[in-house]
Amino acid sequence: MLRFSFLTLFPELLAPFAGEAIVGKARERGLIDVNLVNMRDYADNKHQKVDDSPYGGGAGMVIRVDVAERALRSLPAADEVVLLTPAGARFTQQVAEELASKSHLAFLCGRYEGFDARVEGLVTRELSVGDFVMMGGEAAAACILEAVARLVPGVLGDPESHQADSFSSGLLDYPEYTRPAVWQDQAVPDVLKGGNHAAVAAWRRAQALERTWRRRPDLLPHAGLTPQDTLTLQGLGATPEDLAEWGAPPAPVQRARKKRQGADPAP
Ligand SMILES: C[S@@+](CC[C@H](N)C(=O)[O-])C[C@H]1O[C@@H](n2cnc3c(N)ncnc32)[C@H](O)[C@@H]1O
Repeated sequence: MLRFSFLTLFPELLAPFAGEAIVGKARERGLIDVNLVNMRDYADNKHQKVDDSPYGGGAGMVIRVDVAERALRSLPAADEVVLLTPAGARFTQQVAEELASKSHLAFLCGRYEGFDARVEGLVTRELSVGDFVMMGGEAAAACILEAVARLVPGVLGDPESHQADSFSSGLLDYPEYTRPAVWQDQAVPDVLKGGNHAAVAAWRRAQALERTWRRRPDLLPHAGLTPQDTLTLQGLGATPEDLAEWGAPPAPVQRARKKRQGADPAP
């Protein structure tokens, strides 16, 4: 069981993400637990004030470190305490995989100008969900909950279903199709309807490579390319310099086709 604790001033913002859909079902099945902690309950004044004006002046309010510390102390020990901040390391699929292997994750969701900087001494890591600034950490927390919970064994019906997802395989995902087979003159590729599993797998790998090559070539050096991938990328127009940069292995040796009996003799 993986436990998530979210320390927030707005638990009601996170409640739907914690209670609905697959996360809600995973909670019911005891695979994960989600604990929403209102930091206001840990203010030590009768007005439940959790923030104050910044030393040195300036706009906005800052969340007090003593409030955050008391809220954290109320929890069972967490093996990761994560500060959500635009100044943190980028949250990626790889980080999601690391977090999914833990047993208790606590997240500090900021508001206003964020937390007193001394909170950094209470956390094990700082994470950002992207290079933009939101009004609070709850949406970032919801992203992380959605990304990490689906990696917990048993949460997704098919344990293999996330292995081909974008980033998990090192590549962007291949395109998917369902009924109708033809929609507005656009037909589903024939290979997907032919029942040849090896051909489907080869087509999907080539599509994933092409998408990644066109949209996110920065992923290719970490994609674990195979000799067959090299052949596909060459076919797409990748240069020898590109292939070297991505660490692509040599393409499989193409067997020369047998000369036809009675073919024209060489001049
Ligand atoms: C208005 S922001 C504070 C921004 C802060 N003054 C700065 O510029 O770094 C308030 C809170 O939203 C959350 N937040 C905003 N953008 C985020 C992002 N990209 N990733 C993670 N958390 C974010 C953080 O918890 C932050 O404390």
